[in-house]
Amino acid sequence: MSDLLHLKDISMHFGAVMALDRVDISVGRGEVLALLGDNGAGKSTLIKVISGGLKPSGGKIFFEGEERVFESPSSLLTTPSRWASRPSTKTSPFA
Ligand SMILES: Nc1ncnc2c1ncn2[C@@H]1O[C@H](COP(=O)(O)OP(=O)(O)OP(=O)(O)O)[C@@H](O)[C@H]1O
Ligand SMILES: [Mg+2]
Repeated sequence: MSDLLHLKDISMHFGAVMALDRVDISVGRGEVLALLGDNGAGKSTLIKVISGGLKPSGGKIFFEGEERVFESPSSLLTTPSRWASRPSTKTSPFA
């Protein structure tokens, strides 16, 4: 079974600051994953990349097996997918 979400070699630079260095994470459907780290480790930056708030400096995001580019949080509402195409249901994409 393919991963629901796969981050492949995601990097994020803010000038000389390397906030994310080739992060590779897979999350399966129904899986709950905790994101832990010291202050400044890059947790918020990673969540912003996943939610489309920040465009990563490098790497790829795969959702439901397809590469996706999340331009903005609001763009996720119009991304063609099983859950976005049925906004009236309360089904979570992670359920
Ligand atoms: N918009 C930004 N401009 C410049 N540097 C940034 C920006 N956002 C984050 N950083 C830097 O990227 C690194 C990661 O920051 P981030 O906020 O993602 O860490 P965090 O794990 O969420 O920290 P905390 O536990 O304090 O919330 C830090 O060095 C931070 O200073
Ligand atoms: Mg944070």
